[in-house]
Amino acid sequence: MNPPLILLTGATGFIASHTWLALQAAGYRVLGIDNFSNSSPEVLTRLKTLGGMTPDFIRADVCDAAAIDTVFAREPIAAVVHFAAFKAVGESAAKPLAYYANNLSGLFTVCQAMERHHCQALVFSSSATVYGKPEQLPIREDAALSATNPYGATKLMSETVLRDLQAADPSWAIATLRYFNPVGAHESGLIGEDPRGTPNNVMPFISQVAIGKRARLSIFGNDYDTADGTGVRDYIHVSDLAEGHVAALRYLLAGKGSIVANLGTGQGSSVLELVRAFEQASGRSVPFEIAPRRPGDIDACYADPARAHELLGWRATRDLQTMCADSWRWQNLNPNGLAG
Ligand code: UD1
Repeated sequence: MNPPLILLTGATGFIASHTWLALQAAGYRVLGIDNFSNSSPEVLTRLKTLGGMTPDFIRADVCDAAAIDTVFAREPIAAVVHFAAFKAVGESAAKPLAYYANNLSGLFTVCQAMERHHCQALVFSSSATVYGKPEQLPIREDAALSATNPYGATKLMSETVLRDLQAADPSWAIATLRYFNPVGAHESGLIGEDPRGTPNNVMPFISQVAIGKRARLSIFGNDYDTADGTGVRDYIHVSDLAEGHVAALRYLLAGKGSIVANLGTGQGSSVLELVRAFEQASGRSVPFEIAPRRPGDIDACYADPARAHELLGWRATRDLQTMCADSWRWQNLNPNGLAG
């Protein structure tokens, strides 16, 4: 019998491309779809090299109901891992309508196609952003939820939709995975995060400073309520995150029910600690300046990852040094990203 077929949406993106490899390594068949709105077709070439087979891929937009229906009509799909979404916080404040339209209608289109085709196992990409300004650290899944920007609101709304869907029809099995701060890259350096334009997130920015594409990092605030005054986050290696998706999928397909789980290490690191770790891993210096706080940023955010360990048998294993070393290898091998 053929192994189960898993549909990945947003398949050529940063986290999805790593998950693609992890699923293949775990013995699943993978069908990927993407519209390349924030990724490059070159990822497919890299996946072919890494996975040893031509990736099964269809170019499609998750908001295009007819196209998604065609994907489902091809052959039975056992489960969907839905990554496809816009994800830049700042851009979401400038273009709220685009964010609500894309992120919500993508989810609706995928779930409606799943219902039509009797596929009811879904892994959903959520984010620690749904905890807003956390009242307690480390953050447990039962913490209060809120949104501080339209991007975060789309994740919160999506979680609500999925909760209602599951409550209305318990035959749905849904894993809602709340990612902390994904960084790092595949150990080969062949795939990684490939931001267009100026990176919003700190790790790609640091990498571009280290390689000389940018003069210095602006550290957004050194007067936070943290040990060294800079913001503290739970950085997690993208390969650990990818393995978390495999564990969640196994849970769903084993009929264990639905789950909401944090995917983080449980370990907070400050921006200054990250800069030092990167300098050590790369052997390059990362000049920085202290700049004003970035609006909407919080002091500290890190996970209590106990539930994922208890229920999924998963925990992150790669440390900050490995995250930095792998980010650097990727940056060094692909100085201009995949377009260059
Ligand atoms: C943001 C999003 C989060 C998303 C995550 C990963 C919010 C509020 N934030 O998290 O939803 O999941 O990205 O994509 O929803 N920093 C600098 N200089 C920089 C960039 C960042 O000092 O040039 C600092 C920030 O102030 C923060 C830390 O680095 O303390 C991490 O920032 P970033 O990588 O942007 O992630 P978050 O804001 O935590």
